[in-house]
Amino acid sequence: MTAMDLYHDDVRAPRQTASPLVLGTMGWGTDGERPVRAAAALDAALAAGVTVLDTADIYGDGDSERAVGAALAGLAPQVRDGLRVQTKCGIVLPGTRPPGAAPGTCPAPTTRYDSSPHHLKASLAASLERLGTDRVDTLLIHRPDVLTPVEDTVRAFLDEREAGRVERLGVSNLPWERAQRFHTALRSLSADGTGLDCVQVELGLHHRALVEAAVLANHDDAVPTSGAATLPQWCADEGIALQAWGPLGQGRYTRRTTDEARNPEQDAAVVVEEIAERLGQPGEAVVLGWLRRLPWDVRPVVGTMDPGRIAACSRADDAAAALDHSDWYRLLTAARGVPLP
Ligand SMILES: NC(=O)c1ccc[n+]([C@@H]2O[C@H](COP(=O)([O-])OP(=O)(O)OC[C@H]3O[C@@H](n4cnc5c(N)ncnc54)[C@H](OP(=O)(O)O)[C@@H]3O)[C@@H](O)[C@H]2O)c1
Repeated sequence: MTAMDLYHDDVRAPRQTASPLVLGTMGWGTDGERPVRAAAALDAALAAGVTVLDTADIYGDGDSERAVGAALAGLAPQVRDGLRVQTKCGIVLPGTRPPGAAPGTCPAPTTRYDSSPHHLKASLAASLERLGTDRVDTLLIHRPDVLTPVEDTVRAFLDEREAGRVERLGVSNLPWERAQRFHTALRSLSADGTGLDCVQVELGLHHRALVEAAVLANHDDAVPTSGAATLPQWCADEGIALQAWGPLGQGRYTRRTTDEARNPEQDAAVVVEEIAERLGQPGEAVVLGWLRRLPWDVRPVVGTMDPGRIAACSRADDAAAALDHSDWYRLLTAARGVPLP
């Protein structure tokens, strides 16, 4: 038995299995029709076997977390227990006062990134309150804070874990070197040697930098990756879940358009539609299947609230299995708008 088995099976409550599809909740909120739409989205996600919900302290200035908390409160305990909730901290948006700020503190004048121990602890406490829970499964560092040493953030996270308020650590939008440093620091400073749970990056047909880094190496067409080119394979090698945010490209490739103007996105949408028809799969499944076909076990974090679209997304693995080599490269080429060299 490994330390990981012991940690998950004996010492603490067994971990729920993380589904390949993650339900993003950036659009959730507590006003108007949104709670009803959120409940319907959650129902559809549960029916599709989704076990991971993704939120963040800054989504809707905390309202996404409130809506997630309200939706979870409506579930039967055994259903709730089957879900993992991940939230994020580390961004302070302009016009907001960070949690734990002294009374009278002025709102932030600009966006800044803050992974300091004080901010992590205050932000997590505020997130737990909004979520109506005393513990989240994973806390992600949303963006890199170059002013805070990684080890300081990791120690603060471990304090919170020791207090039972969070189980795992994840990171988002980081260069590979910083993600690796988090993983190494966590493994060496934690008692059980557990490393990062997940790394979240923007990835999809519309945002292909990490894929193109693998396909277009040693060529002028290769797009910059801000130091993340080696992240996907490294995550796969280390057993860290690679989560892709924005995987549907906000609907670019599955939205019917009446616009006559030709552009690569519309051309790619036509290719998605053709392949979807041939495979007998929804377009969303083809778009996500393109990601799932990669050898990195990419976990799409889908932001749709539409129950039908969530059901369509859940067929991504069927589409991935049916996509042949030629389909995959055809989709890449259509999204690029220019042939591969
Ligand atoms: N780590 C980060 O920095 C970061 C950043 C952004 C987001 N995220 C996470 O990733 C999740 C997903 O991000 P995302 O929402 O940008 O990505 P997405 O899943 O690519 O896009 C979802 C959005 O596109 C719309 N959409 C999809 N297909 C459509 C279609 N055929 N026609 C019309 N509209 C369509 C959805 O509307 P409907 O609801 O109507 O379907 C929804 O507003 C977020 O919820 C959040 O949890 C993380």
